[in-house]
Amino acid sequence: MALPTINPTQTAAWQKLQAHFAQMKTAQMQDLFATDAHRTEKFHIEWQDFLLDYSKNIVSEETLALLQELASEVDLKSAIEQYFGGGLINQTENRAVLHTALRSKQTEPILVDGKDILPEIAAVNQKIAAFSESIISGTHKGYTGKAITDVVNIGIGGSDLGPAMMVEALKYYKNQLNVHFVSNIDGDHVQEILKLVDPETTLFVIVSKTFTTQETLTNAQTIRAWFLKTASQQDVAKHFVAVSTNLEKVQAFGIAPENIFPMWDWVGGRFSLWSAVGLSISLAVGPAHFENLLKGAYDMDTHFKTTPFEQNMPVVLALLSIWYNNFYGAETEAIIPYNQYLQKLVPYLQQGIMESNGKHIGRDGKPVNYQTGTIVWGEPGTNSQHAFFQLIHQGTKLIPTDFIGFKHSLYGNQEHQDKLMSNFFAQTEALLMGRPAAPGLSPFKVFTGNKPTNTLLIEKLTPASVGALIALYEHKLFVQGIIWNIFSYDQWGVELGKQLANTILEDIETKKVAAHDASTTFLLNKYLG
Ligand code: F6P
Repeated sequence: MALPTINPTQTAAWQKLQAHFAQMKTAQMQDLFATDAHRTEKFHIEWQDFLLDYSKNIVSEETLALLQELASEVDLKSAIEQYFGGGLINQTENRAVLHTALRSKQTEPILVDGKDILPEIAAVNQKIAAFSESIISGTHKGYTGKAITDVVNIGIGGSDLGPAMMVEALKYYKNQLNVHFVSNIDGDHVQEILKLVDPETTLFVIVSKTFTTQETLTNAQTIRAWFLKTASQQDVAKHFVAVSTNLEKVQAFGIAPENIFPMWDWVGGRFSLWSAVGLSISLAVGPAHFENLLKGAYDMDTHFKTTPFEQNMPVVLALLSIWYNNFYGAETEAIIPYNQYLQKLVPYLQQGIMESNGKHIGRDGKPVNYQTGTIVWGEPGTNSQHAFFQLIHQGTKLIPTDFIGFKHSLYGNQEHQDKLMSNFFAQTEALLMGRPAAPGLSPFKVFTGNKPTNTLLIEKLTPASVGALIALYEHKLFVQGIIWNIFSYDQWGVELGKQLANTILEDIETKKVAAHDASTTFLLNKYLG
């Protein structure tokens, strides 16, 4: 069964939303609050230790009802069933999209090509746990008999951003291992990391779903050559492991089969931290915390799968985002975590959201005639308040913003926590209320307010809550892709640049600049000259 190919703008709900927008476009949230004493009560969702307050949005009950009608009209419900059930929803690559299976606790089989994938997932999870234990406890020794002290994850895109974000997010839960990440093909990046580690005590984890990625393979080769300056070929087995679907290529690289952690083509790179791609996470925090991370995501999956749309966090967030993107014409969305551990959350979500929904061809194979993928950006608060918040408050653009905060800090410094969270609450209040013009008040000090925000208040940063948070955004982007009638799980848009880079590399290596556009030819000649 394929996903439906419904142009959202042709639905009855879209037409109604357009008419409704004509009335709402001048609406002031302050008035909406003033005329409904129960607004926040109605427009919030509590789920486990998450609270989503979405009352500070330029929406009425009618807006939300129409947006939900839109979700029903594009048959979101059956799309969700296909997503979790292993339907080939990554149609352009003829694949299922089953990162949710990696964290599933269900006992009923999940079938891919008629075969239950749950036993295989459990076996790999066991392998990850056992290997992590052996490294953390020091029973696995390096080639000179010393315990491993450092781990270097070599990967890029989904094979880097997820583990790097999560190792940072869960730093409080970390053990003694130092975990480093090499991603960029910039040789200076590799060199800076190698400066920090000792070949005798370092484990290298090469992560590449395809094992064909230029950056990762080049970095891995450079690092192996560096390692072999002091160690011998037979020592490679103690220091290099790989995560990939491409077992042949990994073995050709010289990694022993027992050092390969398999993954599957039904796991997209940008959704792969739950698979063996998360090995660095399991090494950094230990298998028990890794398991809790998966459990948190699974709980969010269950919420998403089973909760009616009006109480469903990912669905509500997705619909609000569509409202601003497609009706208000908002160009971007900001995501601001009030938490330093989440400093890599936004770059991680940028890949998830923008690689997934940055598409202009509909599922019917024709160009769409409406906006799709949102541009997301952001930095942790309060740092971002002192950087770009000026534009959110007083600029000319509408930037719906998600505020993510935690009720409790991890080390329990209450003074800092209260100051941090007072900023968190103050910003959404200021964005809502603004500061009206008044006699004697300089126009430069007027704030229009009426800037939409979502507030996500979570009890505490734990492996489970971060797992749920990431799953929340994964499902939000899924819902948006379904409504926009695009394929969210391929990434053909990154291919052309890769191919051209190979052609240009040949030009550079041979010092013969082949035919390019005039600007590129000019630049290449300057580079070679
Ligand atoms: O270039 C984009 C991409 O294909 C991402 O989708 C992926 O996460 C990344 O490259 C790395 O791919 P691989 O894990 O196969 O090395």
